[in-house]
Amino acid sequence: DHGNRARLLAANQAASEFFLERLGSPEAEVGRRFLGERGFDAEAARRFGVGFAPKSWDALTNHLKGRGFSTEELTASGLVSQGDRGVYDRFRGRLVWPIRDVTGQTVGFGARRLLDDDKGPKYLNTPETAVYHKAQVLYGLDLAKRDISKSHRVVVVEGYTDVMACHLAGVTTAIATCGTSFGVDHIKVLRRVLGDDSGGGEVVFTFDGDAAGQQAAMRAFGEEQRFAAQTFVAVAPDGLDPCDLRLAKGDAAVRTLVESRTPLFEFVLRHTIERYDLETVEGRVGALRAAAPVIAEIRDPALRPGYTRELARMLGVELGEATRAVRQAG
Ligand code: GTP
Ligand code: MN
Ligand code: MN
Ligand code: MN
Ligand code: MN
Repeated sequence: DHGNRARLLAANQAASEFFLERLGSPEAEVGRRFLGERGFDAEAARRFGVGFAPKSWDALTNHLKGRGFSTEELTASGLVSQGDRGVYDRFRGRLVWPIRDVTGQTVGFGARRLLDDDKGPKYLNTPETAVYHKAQVLYGLDLAKRDISKSHRVVVVEGYTDVMACHLAGVTTAIATCGTSFGVDHIKVLRRVLGDDSGGGEVVFTFDGDAAGQQAAMRAFGEEQRFAAQTFVAVAPDGLDPCDLRLAKGDAAVRTLVESRTPLFEFVLRHTIERYDLETVEGRVGALRAAAPVIAEIRDPALRPGYTRELARMLGVELGEATRAVRQAG
């Protein structure tokens, strides 16, 4: 209900201010060092509201109770967890990124482990709550939405630090999922912001070149055909994520990465045939057999012949042979 939602938003807002204030404490030195090592100065941290959760079981709980929030409200907000002997702070000894909805209200947090003795996951998120839905929420969308609707382009990166690095580098359309893979609900959210009912709009995925990133691209391809036709992939040459790329090569390299995007279909085709030795007849036949189903799956009749031609060119086989393979695979 509405009253409950408003209270959860208020609790998240109060927590965000608490974490922000704590980033200045002596204990948070490890967090400030982490930010510095990733190329973020104090102003950059402030722009994204990055804060620090002290290594304590009850610092936030006590702070919020002092602000009038009930135990039930704190549990419902996901800021505290319920244990055998009462509630305790969910985020401890971590750097925290406030996750805001499209209107800029803080709905949850993503928190990175900083301490060696922390056995928890590298990143910990707010659990599902009445205001936090991980399948829909996109980190950075509040900052990026204006430029996304203006440019009809959105850049999807993997993490919080990548969103920060992109925005600081001038790629102000960057957003990321929050500890979950990109899914159909995220596509729906983006469609609204892209305003692509007319079919315009372009989605660029940057992946760090690892297997997980490539699988995400394949999934996007499989799930949403119309979406796939507007989808591009940008992978840094040495598999760096945008944050590390900016550190190594500077802001311009991040902008160039995004500009050097490849259409998703082409990316998938390349990825499919790269295992084969195209110098041999067996290799070319194997590659054709593996790639034909990819093209056969393209439902847009305007795109299929073009990609068939592209495949024939990539493999160095006759167009007729490629066309036949695609038809047989369909
Ligand atoms: P550093 O390794 O500190 O440079 O950060 P990174 O942002 O490069 O981390 P990584 O590439 O491993 O992760 C990218 C994003 O994936 C993060 O921002 C998280 O949203 C998510 N992620 C990574 N590890 C975990 C995890 O253990 N649990 C969850 N839920 N999400 C994770
Ligand atoms: Mn326009
Ligand atoms: Mn990865
Ligand atoms: Mn990364
Ligand atoms: Mn990184």
